[in-house]
Amino acid sequence: MDVKERIVAELTAARDRSFGLTVEALEAPELTAQVSPLMSPLVWDLAHIGNYEEQWLLRAAAGATAVRPDIDDIYDAFEHPRAERPSLPLLSPAESRAYVTTVRDRVLDSLEKVPLIGALAGDGFVYHMVIQHEHQHDETMLATHQLRKGAPALLDPPEADPVAGGTPPAEVLVPGGPFLMGASDDPWAYDNERPGHMVDVPSFHIDTTPVGNAAYAAFIEAGGYRDPRWWHPKGWEWRSRTGKEAPAFWYREGGQWMRHRLGHVEPVPMDEPVQHVCWYEADAYARWAGRRLPTEAEWEKAASWDPAADRKRRLPWGDSGEAGAHANVGQRRHRPSPLGSYADGASAYGVRQLIGDVWEWTSTDFDGYPGFRSFPYKEYSEVFFGGEYKVLKGGSWATHPLAARPTFRNWDFPIRRQIFAGFRCARDA
Ligand SMILES: [Fe+2]
Repeated sequence: MDVKERIVAELTAARDRSFGLTVEALEAPELTAQVSPLMSPLVWDLAHIGNYEEQWLLRAAAGATAVRPDIDDIYDAFEHPRAERPSLPLLSPAESRAYVTTVRDRVLDSLEKVPLIGALAGDGFVYHMVIQHEHQHDETMLATHQLRKGAPALLDPPEADPVAGGTPPAEVLVPGGPFLMGASDDPWAYDNERPGHMVDVPSFHIDTTPVGNAAYAAFIEAGGYRDPRWWHPKGWEWRSRTGKEAPAFWYREGGQWMRHRLGHVEPVPMDEPVQHVCWYEADAYARWAGRRLPTEAEWEKAASWDPAADRKRRLPWGDSGEAGAHANVGQRRHRPSPLGSYADGASAYGVRQLIGDVWEWTSTDFDGYPGFRSFPYKEYSEVFFGGEYKVLKGGSWATHPLAARPTFRNWDFPIRRQIFAGFRCARDA
């Protein structure tokens, strides 16, 4: 497949996924309602995906005339915070579907004439950016579905079985030394992953799997939520203000932990990675366990460095390969896989489940790498630099494989719990 054929295939796959999350079977009120002030109405995400595509692939890349310049403002994420979006004159679900389809048809018509050269379109960069953008919004839409607590179960995939992998050792040693962090040549990499640069990381130990629900429940039983010794001062302030005593969507019933998961109510499976915890909870657990969160550099080295070959791998298990055989990604399951799954997905150091299952909180604040240059617009990354956001790595079960790579950097506020995030622990060697 050449680059343009791949672009067409990936655009089509992304749209199938978006339409699957905003199916017509859903009543219009479910698409237009705001289930939480943290999230947009689903129909906003859908038309925003089309508007972003119109701006970058039609107007910027193909030099085409605008389809709906009148709605640019409504779908500009920086003009209107999520809480405000339901009050905007949004396109209806039917109008949104028609709009994104018109844009897509024109993009496909123009693709043949757009040369994949230059800063924006070279190697397909701007198309890759738009494809990943759509998948990232699809993951956001899944988080919105998760927040529809009590709503009917929705959109169950034919659950692919996780690939069992036996029990790895609890942790491994990553010996000290330099490794290549970030990416310079990857045509899918965003500006915040660039440039690739050498980082010398002292020796450390890191868990071979994310922290599981059983271990997290033990932290709760041990009174972890009531002991300020384990909490960052701002985390304790958050805990005291909100009264939280368990991950989001958990509740107690007859001495058992239960959870809400995309319309299902079920016992919390003790062998799965914990998810829906915020950074403060992850940080408190780690301190209680006598450990700490890994830095972003430690996480990425454990995930991508091949010490025998003295080079970076594009993925933990190698340079290529459909992630489905190696990791729980792409919304093929609607949940994390059991701890220790996917032995074939281990990194060179023997660390598992780095890609997929749950996003992993790191101790690192989101900032630019040395030599960072904003591209193609400041609002993708640069406006978020400066210490308010923590970096998350690796993608979740809801992340499309195209956006799940060791160099990919996600970021969020340390109080956020609606995302599909967990963590693993590390310690100094
Ligand atoms: Fe967006």
